[in-house]
Amino acid sequence: MAKLLIVYGTTEGQTRKIAERMAQRARDTGHEVALHDATALPGDIEPAAFSAVIVAGSVHIGRHQSSIDHFVRTHRAALENRPSALVSVSLSAAGDEHDRQDARECAEHFLAGTGWRPTAIHLAAGAFRFSQYDFFKRWIMRRIAREKGTPSDTSQDYEFTDWLALDGFVDDFLAGAGPGR
Ligand SMILES: Cc1cc2nc3c(=O)[nH]c(=O)nc-3n(C[C@H](O)[C@H](O)[C@H](O)COP(=O)(O)O)c2cc1C
Repeated sequence: MAKLLIVYGTTEGQTRKIAERMAQRARDTGHEVALHDATALPGDIEPAAFSAVIVAGSVHIGRHQSSIDHFVRTHRAALENRPSALVSVSLSAAGDEHDRQDARECAEHFLAGTGWRPTAIHLAAGAFRFSQYDFFKRWIMRRIAREKGTPSDTSQDYEFTDWLALDGFVDDFLAGAGPGR
């Protein structure tokens, strides 16, 4: 059984949902999990007390949340001393090969900035959460949706996350984390 720490950053809520799903999957498969929003971490959080760590964040204009950037920079040594993973959530991850290359580059840019070398990286498709956007964001995101040929009715949200692929990622990551590590 692994003792797993999941820390996430979210702007419109999809990465929270993804982090909660990962936590549930890990618990359902017999692991112990602590789940925290990176903007509300307990002051005494100690990644070295866990056997594995997943950091999840989403991409906005090419960048991940500063809260997860800060967490990773502060705890990089502990992350690199145990199995650790980045889950990067974006709409590019839902696209074609060119879009997925953009998603990879955003993740790599985050890793280069923090200096963190995780054991695993998972690119997860996010959502259009029109219900969470202000007028300006809704206008921009509707334009992007139209350009991409995805639904752009702003009275609804559209989720592209592949939940089964996410479960598979958690299972593989935890299998590598192994007991006693
Ligand atoms: C203002 C804004 C900018 C965004 N910029 C990007 C981007 O540069 N690349 C991308 O792939 N997705 C981008 N997205 C899509 C988000 O990554 C996606 O909606 C994700 O689900 C957000 O996760 P969150 O709800 O956890 O914040 C953007 C979304 C918004 C609202």
